[in-house]
Amino acid sequence: MPKLRLGINIDHIATVRNARNRDSAAAPDLLRGAQAALKGGADGITFHLREDRRHVLDADVKRLRAHIKAPINLEIAATEEMKNIALFVRPHAVCLVPERRKEVTTEGGVNVVKGGKKLAGIVNQLAASGIRVSLFINPDAAQVLAAWTSGAAAIELHTGAYALARGASQKRELKRLQWAARQAHKLGMEVHAGHGLTYDNVTPIAAISEIVELNIGHFLIGEALFTGLTAAVRGMRQRMNKARKV
Ligand code: PXP
Repeated sequence: MPKLRLGINIDHIATVRNARNRDSAAAPDLLRGAQAALKGGADGITFHLREDRRHVLDADVKRLRAHIKAPINLEIAATEEMKNIALFVRPHAVCLVPERRKEVTTEGGVNVVKGGKKLAGIVNQLAASGIRVSLFINPDAAQVLAAWTSGAAAIELHTGAYALARGASQKRELKRLQWAARQAHKLGMEVHAGHGLTYDNVTPIAAISEIVELNIGHFLIGEALFTGLTAAVRGMRQRMNKARKV
């Protein structure tokens, strides 16, 4: 099985910081968080620059880009403003996500079918500057096909419905993810997954052989309150390795 990479989403370090001070230099320090995650076995650092800047700030993006040597995965909405920021920052990767101002978190995947040529244009401009582009989508046949048509190198499967479901309905959600991963892989795209993953639900997802990257945030930042971020990440890495029989 190919190696499974782990990207740690550090948005919620910024959520805690912003509760007191919307300042990139204030505590808790995002850069220190990124370094602690890498020490625990993360392969890359992910963060979402939201249009409303509710957690990560523009100054954070600059600072993290300047100081982190590991691959950075920048999550953004597919807008002109965000595309231009990505072209300026030039992260290793960009993940295009849908955004609604009032949502608590990224509640569904991008509608790539509806996004059509406009979305494909953004994918192509980012890819032309050497950025690996992924589309955060629901595990749905039409979305997988549209992602491939758009020219994206990768998809990230939204695992939120799987994470919330229980019993037979969770098994159904897992089957949808397994199927979508296989289809995307057959079409030649890299397959990633994320959202709502925890120590308790990561194993079946990490065992899907077509998936090569997981992006995990909220649970691990919460776990870090009790164990520290390095240990929290290490615990996830161990579960992923076990699922993958590494
Ligand atoms: N992947 C994407 C594209 C996301 O938008 C998010 C949430 O910001 C995550 C992964 C991580 O989700 P969670 O914080 O629930 O682990």
